[in-house]
Amino acid sequence: TEPPYADYIRDRIRTVPDWPQAGVQFRDITPLLQDKKTFRVLVDIFVHRYMDLDLDIVAGVDARGFILGAVVAYELNLGFVPVRKKGKLPFLTVAEEYELEYGSATVEIHTDACKRGDRVLLIDDLVATGGTMVAAAKLLNRLGATIVEAAAIVDLPELGGSKIVREQGITLFTVCD
Ligand code: PRP
Ligand code: ADE
Repeated sequence: TEPPYADYIRDRIRTVPDWPQAGVQFRDITPLLQDKKTFRVLVDIFVHRYMDLDLDIVAGVDARGFILGAVVAYELNLGFVPVRKKGKLPFLTVAEEYELEYGSATVEIHTDACKRGDRVLLIDDLVATGGTMVAAAKLLNRLGATIVEAAAIVDLPELGGSKIVREQGITLFTVCD
């Protein structure tokens, strides 16, 4: 079942056909972020869901996962760590390569981004093939963290990613499809 406000959030996400390439229905979250009321409703969905879960840190995925992840971390009175695309982080890193709906990529995290046993909330904007979320989760697992939940605004269930994420044993929350 969908959380409250799913329709409200969905109505502010714009679908752009054939971007960045033919056949892709791109879900553009910029209208959702731009409107002060929907942005607040969105952030509050995540804050209310996670405020009592005794989390240690929020990890957000480059680049759209930073927007929501950092605000949610701040509101939960937690720190934020970035999972970045390859070559952006200056200190010691671990890396995971993965396949995207349109191409392949590598994500990295600093080796000191979290401590063994840390209870982490992993945030991105969208799950398509699930490759990004699974790769980010693997990075956190390699650091010894516990992923309490992976969360995103949008699930594209027809691409099968949310199923794959859950088959990896990761609990996944999404607001709408
Ligand atoms: C998009 C999106 C997710 C990922 C989802 O990011 O923000 O991170 O793709 O796709 P997947 O489930 O198939 O892995 P993208 O790599 O386009 O980068 P961006 O955030 O920099 O636009
Ligand atoms: N990332 C991967 N697939 C996407 C899509 N269809 N819309 C927005 N972001 C995406």
